[in-house]
Amino acid sequence: QGKKLFDYNIVLIGFMGAGKSTISAFLRDALAMDVVEMDQVIAEQQGMSISEIFETYGEEYFRNLETQLLIDMQSKQNVIISCGGGVAMRERNVAEMKKNGKVVLLKADPQTILDRVKDSDERPLLNGHKNVEYIADLMEARRAKYEAAADIVVQTDGKSALEICEEMIHKL
Ligand code: S3P
Repeated sequence: QGKKLFDYNIVLIGFMGAGKSTISAFLRDALAMDVVEMDQVIAEQQGMSISEIFETYGEEYFRNLETQLLIDMQSKQNVIISCGGGVAMRERNVAEMKKNGKVVLLKADPQTILDRVKDSDERPLLNGHKNVEYIADLMEARRAKYEAAADIVVQTDGKSALEICEEMIHKL
């Protein structure tokens, strides 16, 4: 196997639809790194979709699963961790992700986000709220925490996955 490009984990954070999963998959293929897709791991562990977990146990339960998974991930090295959009809202989570990783914030404008999530039924927080105003308000409410957590920021609007990854690697 080739030489590792990074000696730390890359942790992708950002709003729903910011491109975390797309960019993780692109990096996995380009850099031969493993990806931990947090939502997917949690859904598999629980044997339920994210929406079902929210409906059955509530948001707090889901948030605790996220924190536990981040702790479990710390021993890993050279992986890409694709966080759920709310992960960076807890200070504890940010501390855990920074222990062994560099945090990349992916950003997009509310209209771009809406275009990307409008056909998804796996965003329980946006059920019944698929409009630009709601997305802009929630994004603004979360902005300071995303920015405080980030080591680097990449704006994704109108860029290809390749362009986003190049910019990210350049800034890391
Ligand atoms: C959430 C984002 C979702 C998922 C859950 C909550 C959030 O992940 O974890 O629905 O609070 O922003 P994506 O960012 O992958 O959509």
